[in-house]
Amino acid sequence: MLEYFDPSKDLGTKAILSQNLINLEVDGVSISVPEGTSVMRAAALNDINIPKLCATDSLDAFGSCRLCAVQVEGMRGYPASCTTPVSEGMSVTTQTEKLAKLRRNVMELYISDHPLDCLTCPANGDCELQDMAGAVGLREVRYGFDGENHLSAPTDNSNPYFSFDASKCIVCSRCVRACEEVQGTFALTIDGRGFDSKVAAGKDQDFIDSDCVSCGACVQACPTSTLMEKSVIDQGQPEHSVVTTCAYCGVGCSFEAQMKGDKVIRMVPYKGGEANQGHSCVKGRFAFGYATHKDRIKEPMVRDSIDQPWRAVSWDEAFKFAADKIHKIQAEHGRESVGGITSSRCTNEETFLVQKLIRSAFGNNNTDTCARVCHSPTGFGLKTTLGESAGTQTFESIRQADSIVVIGANPTDAHPVFGSLMRRRLREGASLIVIDPREIDLLKTPHLNQAIHLQLRPGTNVSLINAMAHVIVNEQLLDTDFIENRCDSAAFDQWKAFISQVENSPETSEKITGVEAEKVREAARVYANAGNGAIFYGLGVTEHSQGSTMVMGIANLALATGNLGREGVGVNPLRGQNNVQGSCDMGSFPHELPGYQHVGDKSVRDKFEAVWKVKIDHEPGLRIPNMFDAAINGNFRGMYVQGEDIAQSDPNTQHVEKALRSLDCLIVQDIFLNETAKFAHVLLPGSTFLEKDGTFTNAERRINRVRKVMPPIAGLADWEVTLGLSKALGYEMHYNHPSEIMDEIALLTPSFTGVNYDKLEELGSIQWPCNEEHPLGTPTMHVEDFPIGKGNFALTTFIPTQERSTRRLPLLLTTGRILSQYNVGAQTRRTDNMAWHSEDVLELHPHDAQERGVKDGDWLGITSRAGNTVLRAKISERMQPGVVYTTFHHPGSGANVITTDNSDWATNCPEYKVTAVQVEKVSKPSSWQQAFERSDKQQKKLLREPQVMDK
Ligand code: SF4
Ligand code: SF4
Ligand code: SF4
Ligand code: FES
Repeated sequence: MLEYFDPSKDLGTKAILSQNLINLEVDGVSISVPEGTSVMRAAALNDINIPKLCATDSLDAFGSCRLCAVQVEGMRGYPASCTTPVSEGMSVTTQTEKLAKLRRNVMELYISDHPLDCLTCPANGDCELQDMAGAVGLREVRYGFDGENHLSAPTDNSNPYFSFDASKCIVCSRCVRACEEVQGTFALTIDGRGFDSKVAAGKDQDFIDSDCVSCGACVQACPTSTLMEKSVIDQGQPEHSVVTTCAYCGVGCSFEAQMKGDKVIRMVPYKGGEANQGHSCVKGRFAFGYATHKDRIKEPMVRDSIDQPWRAVSWDEAFKFAADKIHKIQAEHGRESVGGITSSRCTNEETFLVQKLIRSAFGNNNTDTCARVCHSPTGFGLKTTLGESAGTQTFESIRQADSIVVIGANPTDAHPVFGSLMRRRLREGASLIVIDPREIDLLKTPHLNQAIHLQLRPGTNVSLINAMAHVIVNEQLLDTDFIENRCDSAAFDQWKAFISQVENSPETSEKITGVEAEKVREAARVYANAGNGAIFYGLGVTEHSQGSTMVMGIANLALATGNLGREGVGVNPLRGQNNVQGSCDMGSFPHELPGYQHVGDKSVRDKFEAVWKVKIDHEPGLRIPNMFDAAINGNFRGMYVQGEDIAQSDPNTQHVEKALRSLDCLIVQDIFLNETAKFAHVLLPGSTFLEKDGTFTNAERRINRVRKVMPPIAGLADWEVTLGLSKALGYEMHYNHPSEIMDEIALLTPSFTGVNYDKLEELGSIQWPCNEEHPLGTPTMHVEDFPIGKGNFALTTFIPTQERSTRRLPLLLTTGRILSQYNVGAQTRRTDNMAWHSEDVLELHPHDAQERGVKDGDWLGITSRAGNTVLRAKISERMQPGVVYTTFHHPGSGANVITTDNSDWATNCPEYKVTAVQVEKVSKPSSWQQAFERSDKQQKKLLREPQVMDK
């Protein structure tokens, strides 16, 4: 275990990136720092620590507390070192009698209005006010505490995770500035003036009722115990910490898990983390309690049929039970009759092992992953056009973007830390173009410069992107140098002729998308003329019948305008789950071995066979939807599912349930009895990210270390469980530690040849490709050429989806996520995040609501061609008339009961974003929901009352 004690010193003000070095002296020490650096930071870099209170190095200097006064030769008075930049030849003195007295006076004023309860204060030992009182040598307070003070100011405990004890506030405004500068929410203000000034959330509301999104930046910034994690108040200060990676979304934030023994007291965003640079969102920062939730599956369990109680067994018995069933199925129905699904929540190493088990122990390529239902079109589309199926930039690169295009993504909810960085760049002046049927929160960014919202009809993305490209070609906004030097000329000529056709004009498109032609023209001009145009997209692009076409359309646009291969530009898929990128990289797809190497390629198979000592099938295996169909047809009978809840997350729930019920053996490895596990015969306890070592790869291709902070609750980490199962199946794999699995990945995967755990320790993280050519990794892709040589323009003909609104089903339903819940909600529903989203609701436009006589909170029956469900109504101006929206975080909502089997033509990614529906007021749950309730109760009962097997 790697221990990190206080890795990041607070240098008081932000780092300045300047090539110009300035020479100065501080307390007689000669110092050289970049031009623009503050005196405070210059001194701190040389271990000369000037007292401070209102300054911290994540925020712009503010200069309000005056504790950091210094003496500068030739300058009058005592300037604040946090707001004074260094200058050539400057001579600074930080310690004199006069300065000491000045600082003591400042501290004395603060302390005279502060409770003196240090010994019982939860921040005792971790309080900057306490430290500074010591640093300036304050021993007594002359003013006493009898005058006017704030000592009886109230505490706001409304936020489930942190409290705000106003009696301890020194009004340094670090919290207010953190909320503005770091998070970009502007939820806090300083109300009043002078003695009456105080921190207020929203319009002097409780935190929970304000705009606060509970990111924790203010808590992090607060130098006192005013804003404090409740877990620390309840359990005391942590004693040691381990740096690890958040297991929620594709941003991949680094955290210090701060611990007492084996218990996590708090998760603090790690400043050294390249993806998040010290910021966090409510999920990673606070919602970790699920790891020790009482619902955790703590022992392996088996049963012969799904209406029987579970029998608790030993690990070995569970492995044998599972292996016997799989062997029997294969003996009776053939090698191809079983398969498995890898997890985008598990580590790279674990995912690698699951697909290896399927290809080696099962002896077929029936492996797939949740990317099938989210980003498989990204793989296809980017590989076809750019030659590599991954995002092209670092997150930080957005700081150089002049125009930011967000398509079918909602970063402030689904990728919140990156959403904050995006907002920062937008406040700095970058323009914003949003292509989305809904008005996403990014459009309400405070101090936004220029924003264009192309609010198209669901299912019409390709028409819109073609229209933008049409404008760029017709108005000669192309980057001809880039096209000439970097792109395939024949493909470009063909594409140019295609895109110039009148069916791709903004006027034709307007009839399809509903977006005014002039607005499309404006957006195309803004992006093409921006200097640096960066595109970010999400599942609103991929989860369509033309998902792959749209990804190629986006890549075409970037190629045509030369927006690839340098900082500030690019094409970037925002990955949903923490390790979607990694699970794709690790060979989860039925046609590709790790590193996207095709199973049909004999030289590739030879390489793997030599190391794995097994014959690999040359035929691609089944995709998830094919597995379901084959299960219903009786040809597919056994399945191993690691850390994925297909019964809740995949479309057309009734079809999925039928498929799962048809299986003779379903092996589920998960931390909870999820919806899929209710159909399982073998339940293998999973381990959370806190219980194992490994790596995750985020949306920037950044490989981050996951470090074990506590032992696996059920005794084995997920990678060890796969080893046990594989051994029982007769294919033994030998690894002592996940680092050895990574060594094998590096041996077999060209883009990973330079990756190993030692290098990860040294560099912190690595962005693949990391190999002989790029030993330190590749922050920006396609700088000189593309993996396929030249950029490949693809023809992107718009073909309307089969899923149309009709008189019977006049509305279009689209689905998405919200900030506080994660994916199927299995983790976040078991945390206090329920305070923000305790049920899925149906958002609809006031016009649609009025037509149907619907009020906020009414129960609405939602009917599609696939099924029906019932949700509460939320009337929202964010919707356009004719479009309704919901999330899928709660299983009982049945959001996927109504989504259909339509899918992307190239990859089978389901068309979650377009479902024709009708809604009407109802008074009771749907029949599916009633059946769900009954089966949920029954399965929980079968779990609660397991039979202990005779030993
Ligand atoms: S938790 Fe985040 S959003 Fe809420 S007030 Fe603090 S900084 Fe602002
Ligand atoms: S709550 Fe903390 S950070 Fe905010 S003004 Fe008060 S002491 Fe400063
Ligand atoms: S942004 Fe994503 S990775 Fe970062 S803390 Fe939030 S959920 Fe975790
Ligand atoms: S730390 Fe410089 S004025 Fe407060």
